Amino acid sequence: MKFISIKEAMKKGSGKVSVRGWVHRERGSNKFKFIVLRDATDLMQCVIKKEKFDEKKFEEADKLQVECSMYITGTIKADKRAPTGFEIEVDDFTVIGWSDSFPLQADQSREFMDDNRHLALRTRKLTAVMKIRHTVFGAFHEYFRGEGFYEYQSPIFQSVQCEGGSTLFGVKYFDKKDVFLAQTWQLYAEPAIFSLEKIYTMAPSFRAEKSKTSRHLTEYWHAEMEVAWSTFKDLQDYGEGVIKHAIKRVLEKNQEELKILERDPKKLEPSLKKPFVRMTYTEALKLLKEKCKMDVPWGKDMRTIEEDKLSSLFDVFIICTHYPKEVKAFYMMEDENDPKVVLGADFIAPEGYGEIIGCSQREHDIEKLKKRLRDMGENPDEYDFYLDTRKYGSIPHGGWGMGMERLISWMCGLDNIKDAIPFPRTPLRYKP
Ligand code: 4AD
Ligand code: MG
Repeated sequence: MKFISIKEAMKKGSGKVSVRGWVHRERGSNKFKFIVLRDATDLMQCVIKKEKFDEKKFEEADKLQVECSMYITGTIKADKRAPTGFEIEVDDFTVIGWSDSFPLQADQSREFMDDNRHLALRTRKLTAVMKIRHTVFGAFHEYFRGEGFYEYQSPIFQSVQCEGGSTLFGVKYFDKKDVFLAQTWQLYAEPAIFSLEKIYTMAPSFRAEKSKTSRHLTEYWHAEMEVAWSTFKDLQDYGEGVIKHAIKRVLEKNQEELKILERDPKKLEPSLKKPFVRMTYTEALKLLKEKCKMDVPWGKDMRTIEEDKLSSLFDVFIICTHYPKEVKAFYMMEDENDPKVVLGADFIAPEGYGEIIGCSQREHDIEKLKKRLRDMGENPDEYDFYLDTRKYGSIPHGGWGMGMERLISWMCGLDNIKDAIPFPRTPLRYKP
């Protein structure tokens, strides 16, 4: 018996086929057992007719429950009434694994679904998201490698912080106390551009964010890049380039999944076809005041509600640049034309999906870096290895980080970031 996938069986469209998978739905009568079989590729209606089997075998068919795994051999034909347009009339079947009564049903609470995440991964929704996630990760590798970047890995156990102490996870590292899980690869990426020049990664980052929002995970996948000799504009262009490439691939490969998720592909198209909107923080505040009647005093960071309002004014990503120095990280470079602001940018997604990329040109003045570390209450000595990058052939450079689950949430139109990752981690959720 040579098994083919359900998709391949549909392509074949007629004749004998053997498929295998799990019972997605079942219903029976005294003459038939209807099964919708699921494999990684699709669903297939299968009909087991009582007349074709002896009593004992049909009894077995009758006992089939949702999530039983089985082999099926039969004849496939097009059938408009079947959920995916084809039906297999079963000649023979073998049950491989019986199933207990499957706990997941439609309309169960978020909590219940999260408690049973290991089972929820079998749902059509999460399967569709994971396929889109796969496309997006693949597109990132494709884009960066195509642009001449090296893939490079940084440590997860780190001895210093980069994005502020409040979101650090300390870990027990034998008898040491000052070991943390990575918030970003950045301090361990910058040293590598002196040999590789253009590098990227996709790796887990960890943030002890207490905020229980639909955008925050405590463990997320971080796509990061760092480039030697870059200008601030280069960094923005790479960000726009990789997002466009990922949208292109998702539109090419995942129309079916978008449909399952009821995500209108037209929402993704503008960001592929049109240039992203680029504006400064100061211009953004002006727009918020004029168009949304929101008054943000200059110098204050934009909050989620302000970013959301701003995003509602456009149908593409916004690249917001030149933020006040005080609201951004210590390593961002001062603008030589206006030292109150830094060459830092946030990419704000359409439709209120929030900040997707944090980007900046890096400060290379070692004294300024040390001062900002001290201002933050950090001991610059701990950052010796990092500051060395500014001592031996320092160059203009920069990079950015993107939350993959935030991008995937937007692509899929999810209402919670938790569904963009197989096993979400949040302050309250660390099981299963
Ligand atoms: O803006 P952030 O903090 O920037 C950095 O970490 C830089 N060191 C990156 C770099 O330049 N290499 O984080 C980058 C992105 C955010 O824009 C957001 O998309 C995502 O990481 N992110 C989160 N995603 C999910 N859950 C969280 N708790 C996140 N925190 C940040
Ligand atoms: Mg940020």
